[in-house]
Amino acid sequence: MVIGSGIAGLSFALKVAQHGKVAIVTKTRIDETNTSYAQGGISSVTYAPDNFDKHIEDTLIAGDGLCDEEAVRLVVQEAPEKIKQLVEWGTQFDRKEDGSFDLHREGGHSEFRILHHKDNTGAEIQRALTTMVKNHPNITLLEKYFAIDLITPHHLGKIMEPWMKNNVCHGAYVLNIKTKQVETFLSKITMLATGGVGSVYQTTTNPLISTGDGIAMVFRAKGVIENMEFVQFHPTSLYNPAERPSFLITEAMRGFGGVLRTTDGQEFMHKYDPRGCLAPRDIVARAIDNELKITGDDYVYLDVTHKPAEEIRDHFPTIYEKCLSLGIDITRQMIPVVPAAHFLCGGIKVDLSGHTSIRNLYAAGECASSGLHGANRLASNSLLEGIVFADLAARDALARINKCDFNEQIPDWNDEGTTLPEEMVLITQSNKEVEQIMSNYVGIVRSNLRLQRAFDRLEVIYRETESLYQKSKVSQKICELRNKINVGYLIIKMARRRKESRGLHYNLDYPSKMEL
Ligand code: FAD
Ligand code: SIN
Repeated sequence: MVIGSGIAGLSFALKVAQHGKVAIVTKTRIDETNTSYAQGGISSVTYAPDNFDKHIEDTLIAGDGLCDEEAVRLVVQEAPEKIKQLVEWGTQFDRKEDGSFDLHREGGHSEFRILHHKDNTGAEIQRALTTMVKNHPNITLLEKYFAIDLITPHHLGKIMEPWMKNNVCHGAYVLNIKTKQVETFLSKITMLATGGVGSVYQTTTNPLISTGDGIAMVFRAKGVIENMEFVQFHPTSLYNPAERPSFLITEAMRGFGGVLRTTDGQEFMHKYDPRGCLAPRDIVARAIDNELKITGDDYVYLDVTHKPAEEIRDHFPTIYEKCLSLGIDITRQMIPVVPAAHFLCGGIKVDLSGHTSIRNLYAAGECASSGLHGANRLASNSLLEGIVFADLAARDALARINKCDFNEQIPDWNDEGTTLPEEMVLITQSNKEVEQIMSNYVGIVRSNLRLQRAFDRLEVIYRETESLYQKSKVSQKICELRNKINVGYLIIKMARRRKESRGLHYNLDYPSKMEL
């Protein structure tokens, strides 16, 4: 069973379906994924003078001392092969007239190495994978199926703890959203590819599906989760408070020559970093946050008006049209931007085969913590991580599956004594409160006091929600709220444990880095 239909889930399914039956469950439509929203592209070394060592070095620098070097090397070296695979599956990357890839450059990259399709690369990858999956005879696609919890020995009455070695996954309880029934999915191998956690924050580039469900499920199943404090805020989302998710203005625009300015037109990034607007995004996001605090403005500008209008329209057609629909002609006017929660570097701890701490359970893509990103992700490395680790996991799972059995003793979901929640407004309101708490106290800049306050406030909502959950028939809404609370708790807990500032985690009370 595969839970999730982005790049990680679909590419895993395509690999293992050559050898057996696969069910993909996904909570909305197949293409409502972070993958579909990706703009800038996917990184890979494709030409000299670029080489693996440079891509590795750039990734390690961004990761600020916490990358697993072996994972970085593996992903970078596998990248060209995975690009070839994506092309074979039908993905069209933009090419130059001579047939070579048209490459972009983004913050933190020392070379042009971002393969892209216009400014909507993710949608193109999702299109290609979706077509392959829908035509595969061994794959059953189940849309509007919401995974609630993993099935583990806990459901057979055994108490498990994270340090115990004999935890094992037998499948998942899944809510069929159309029938409102909870179905038992028994599986020999389960892949979690549930994406990120942006919806835990008020302002995010992530689609609404990003409620951290996979991470919360593994947490409740007593699996190992790590590095949750490293939440990446993208420096440039379009300032438009009425819109959720926030529309991304790709980093490739800064690679293309875009300049960040305060509302009075002053360039400011060189005050913060010699790389200026092309500094890694943690530095750019913090710089913008600081400028906004100094000026009291709601946004800064990204300016590409000095670039040829035709080139802007050609490279960034989606952004051009989107801004135009709001009355901003980006060839003549600057774009108002603000940072927004964008990506989670940590998550479900996996080894170099994508295997979690729970037997027969794999995780890949944004919900997983593979060691690639460390304390900060290099731009355009995450689509790559998704497809590389899905492949590593597929190879491992295929070697293991003949030793796995279905566990037929698993009881069906029991909702005796529960009723339909009478006041959905309680769930809606708690959702808003969680997002406010996380944005106000656990955002780009943190402090001990802010984290303590966030913890205390979240605990109250946790208790209220658990009590409501015990009494209620399950719904997607209450499960997602519960997952967001679990994820918020994990971010706060790990942020409090880190007594330093590193990568994406910045605490005013510990502004410097500890020696490693
Ligand atoms: P996703 O693509 O998010 O898929 C998650 C899937 O899990 C979805 O199908 C969802 O419905 C399903 N799911 C979740 N919970 C459940 C549940 N309980 N039950 C059933 N199904 C569930 N990265 C790059 O490398 N380059 C870029 O240019 C880039 N641009 C980006 C732009 C934007 C606006 C955003 C938001 C992200 C961008 N990223 C980029 C990050 C990248 O898109 C994601 O990290 C990556 O696509 C994650 O893929 P995934 O397969 O792990 O998860
Ligand atoms: C972007 O296009 O700026 C997003 C790239 C990424 O998140 O890797």
